[in-house]
Amino acid sequence: MYYSDELIEEVRMKNDIVDVVSSYVKLQKKGSNYFGLCPFHNEKSPSFSVTPNKQMYYCFGCGQGGNVYTFVMKYENYSFTEAVKELASRAGVHLAETDYSPEEKKRADLKSRILEINKETATYYYHMLKSEKGTKAYEYLKSRQLTDETITKFGLGYATNYKDDLYLYLKKKGYDDDTLKESGLFNFSERGVYDKFADRVMFPIMDVNNRVIGFGGRVMGDGQPKYLNSPETMLFDKSRNLYGLNIARRSRKSHLLICEGYMDVISLHQAGFTNAIASLGTAYTQKQATLIKRYTDDVYLTYDSDGAGIKAALRAIPISKSVGLSTKIVNMNPYKDPDAFIKALGADEYEKRIENARNSFLFEIDKMKEEMDLSDPEVKSRFYSNIAKKLLEFRDELERNVYIDAVCEEYLIPKDSLIRTVSTMSLTVGDEDVWVGVKPKEEIKKPKDDGVRAALKTMLTWLIEEPEVYDKVKNIISEKDFVLPLYSTVATMLFEQLREGTLNPAKIINYFEDGDEQSEVASLFNTPVREELSLAEREKTLNDTLITVKKNSIDYRSRNVNDISLLQDIIKEQNEISKIRVILSK
Ligand code: UTP
Ligand code: MN
Repeated sequence: MYYSDELIEEVRMKNDIVDVVSSYVKLQKKGSNYFGLCPFHNEKSPSFSVTPNKQMYYCFGCGQGGNVYTFVMKYENYSFTEAVKELASRAGVHLAETDYSPEEKKRADLKSRILEINKETATYYYHMLKSEKGTKAYEYLKSRQLTDETITKFGLGYATNYKDDLYLYLKKKGYDDDTLKESGLFNFSERGVYDKFADRVMFPIMDVNNRVIGFGGRVMGDGQPKYLNSPETMLFDKSRNLYGLNIARRSRKSHLLICEGYMDVISLHQAGFTNAIASLGTAYTQKQATLIKRYTDDVYLTYDSDGAGIKAALRAIPISKSVGLSTKIVNMNPYKDPDAFIKALGADEYEKRIENARNSFLFEIDKMKEEMDLSDPEVKSRFYSNIAKKLLEFRDELERNVYIDAVCEEYLIPKDSLIRTVSTMSLTVGDEDVWVGVKPKEEIKKPKDDGVRAALKTMLTWLIEEPEVYDKVKNIISEKDFVLPLYSTVATMLFEQLREGTLNPAKIINYFEDGDEQSEVASLFNTPVREELSLAEREKTLNDTLITVKKNSIDYRSRNVNDISLLQDIIKEQNEISKIRVILSK
């Protein structure tokens, strides 16, 4: 870490957690807290809380929590340093150049030079397409019915068939070989340097911020490979980006259309479906799904209609589901893909296909059915029990019932018997066996608290929610009574803040570097509220909690003591326990 603690704290304080989280998650105020659907696990009712007083968030469902840094790191997949930079720039805090380590600075410089190179290259390819050398390529794009407007919008271009056209161009602009090597645009060999892309129509790939991070290049005609893509570079991570998302994210449609190919995206946009995106020549990944989830909750898979497309859809469904995206499948039959479909039948027909898109659950069952010979009674019964198994994926009973109805109607299954199979199965099959495909994050189990842990947590939460009680309990307990790893570190910092009247729980989280530890600390500060209790009940809870904390601490110390005089102190403390009584005033 190269930033001073003061700077880290300044940046954190200038980024109100409610503000920051609201730009990612819809929040609703409830009492002194805000609630929303947790972005870190799949849920239907909000258990994700953000507390302005504490400047922390905590999910009562999956147990993730932390301060504004933790949030940005988890959500954006940032390192701590990246999170500091992002939040500093958001709050207008200047991070001096010297805050970078020398290696970091070198890396950042290289990255920005590669970005420049990519931009220059895209412009160069575009000019080549429009030049005399590009006539054939331009004709090719025209033959694929792309308009000039579309060509410009997607920045399409042409890489000429000279071996080092681009290389010489960029050399003349002053870029050195080391940098050019890192750009992924060239093959360096003993015999010289060659442009990676030659005689191809070029598709610049942009990230959500419209920065060119890589390229795809298509042969005109039947050569191999059909598409050549930039290799992974320090800028280009195929599993984390989606083609067309830079435009689609602004489409104002409530859903996104996911296709397989560059040309599908471009065709769809040209036909008015500006919400189309594609994964980049690789299978759809969980990281891409997480990225999509930032912009929408609903996706339509509009994949190729061939076997490979169906297989890709079946792989994509559980991935989408695992991040909480609701998914439908658009049928492109009898055409190969959206590009061919639009050309043959037009936008209105495509729109109808979207309206009739198949629910992903039913699609999965359709495909399962196609693989099974239902005239064989044994196979048929396996088909039913597979359906029942899949129905168990719905945790919500109402939702499950809706699907039971739909499945029974679609496949002419007697409802009573399916319901019976489902309930028997829910008793006999362990959770572990039920899941087909990717396991949703919701299933991550929180560790159970024992009584002592629960008491320690309650005490810590109480102290930060009502620091007034500190004056009443400080003669009974101190940080030394929190005798569990992590708890004792946290208590030490918290008690120091309380003594000095500088309560700041979110700052304590800065101290922990590991994400799981940050979540655990957040959980210590977010034990369920006691607001609904009467004063007498609150008093009893507080006293019971104090007694448990104290007893545990005495037990621990007496087990570890070998000094008689200390033991006598401990025995005295033991006798005091029965006298613990704190009175809360209104
Ligand atoms: P397709 O073969 O379906 O291509 O591959 P397409 O999009 O229909 O292309 P056209 O219409 O024939 O021009 C789908 C996607 O898979 C990746 C590309 O991203 C492509 O858009 N792909 C395909 C490659 O990366 N390399 C290949 O050789 C082929
Ligand atoms: Mn195609």
